[in-house]
Amino acid sequence: MSIRIKGTGSYVPERILTNADLEKMVETNDEWIRTRTGIEERRLASPEQATSDLAEQAARRALDQAGITGADLSAIVCATITPDYVFPSTGCLLQQKLGATNAFSFDLEAACSGLLYSLEVAYSLMKANKKYRYVLVVGAEKLSCIVNWADRNTCVLFGDGAGAVVLENVADDRPDFVIASDLHSDGSYTEILKLPAGGSRNPASPETVAAHQHSIFMAGKDVFKLAVNHMSASCRRVLEEAKVDASAIKLVIPHQANLRIIQSLAQRLDVPEDRVFININRFGNTSAASIGLCLDEAARAGRIQPGDYVLLTAFGGGLTWGAMLIQY
Ligand code: UT7
Repeated sequence: MSIRIKGTGSYVPERILTNADLEKMVETNDEWIRTRTGIEERRLASPEQATSDLAEQAARRALDQAGITGADLSAIVCATITPDYVFPSTGCLLQQKLGATNAFSFDLEAACSGLLYSLEVAYSLMKANKKYRYVLVVGAEKLSCIVNWADRNTCVLFGDGAGAVVLENVADDRPDFVIASDLHSDGSYTEILKLPAGGSRNPASPETVAAHQHSIFMAGKDVFKLAVNHMSASCRRVLEEAKVDASAIKLVIPHQANLRIIQSLAQRLDVPEDRVFININRFGNTSAASIGLCLDEAARAGRIQPGDYVLLTAFGGGLTWGAMLIQY
């Protein structure tokens, strides 16, 4: 048996918010946003669209490409920090939308590393039990609903979207799609990237709303340094474990948080920038959706072919981070 990627899909909402639009909302400018982050525009979901709606669109495209229906799925892992509700899980809402009546479904919260963590969980599940023939992994976010649109430190960074991957347990003896993985978390940095209120520690109240505590707080500079260090170390570890040289990688797909982070990573790994996938200019930081969005765009654009080595790496709140070398 081998566990392979059978299909990918992605979705972004239609509405585009440009840097010029943001100039009218907060004291910022296109030049600052472009040079400090690489972002030119991002997508915003409509008020009627919740995270499960974005997830559904991406999932349907992945299912179509895989040539299966929702009913074929054994499990759904949905990575998100912007669930439709605290409960029921967005995974369960998605299951209903897809008619995935044979799947058990749940959410996985690992912030921007969510898709990477979910791939590892889905892969391990399928490896352990071959009755799980098809598993859907989705990263989906409506970050626009947890952004303080008056805070220029954060509101320029984030966008909405979804990316999905269908995994299949195939009866052949090819290698699994996961060649090596390296996942970490460090709960001692919870204060530098968080949503301060709305959970059991600090439940919603008129005071938390007035203090904008239901929106993302980030100590950007601290996060920046840790992101570069941790992602590059994780990438090196998986390459070492897999005994694969960086020159053999067809494409590096990093979480899209900041173009300067991506460039520093490429430099440290000694990978030329044309072998690093970038779409942050069009979508900003979509947290758990970003790697799935990139993977699908790269595959559909023919930048990766079956058999190619692709290096995924992510970093996010928790802290969480990691890397995964896959064979597409
Ligand atoms: O996905 C999860 C992981 N997230 C990340 O990895 C993000 C990591 N961090 C970053 O990407 C960057 O730290 C930011 C893009 C968030 C900020 O860039 P920076 O180069 O670290 O800028 P800074 O926060 O140090 O701010 C520099 C200056 C400040 O002004 P002063 O104090 O030097 O006068 C800010 O007030 O830029 C100012 N500034 C802005 N100016 C115009 C901050 N935001 C803006 C803005 N427009 N939107």
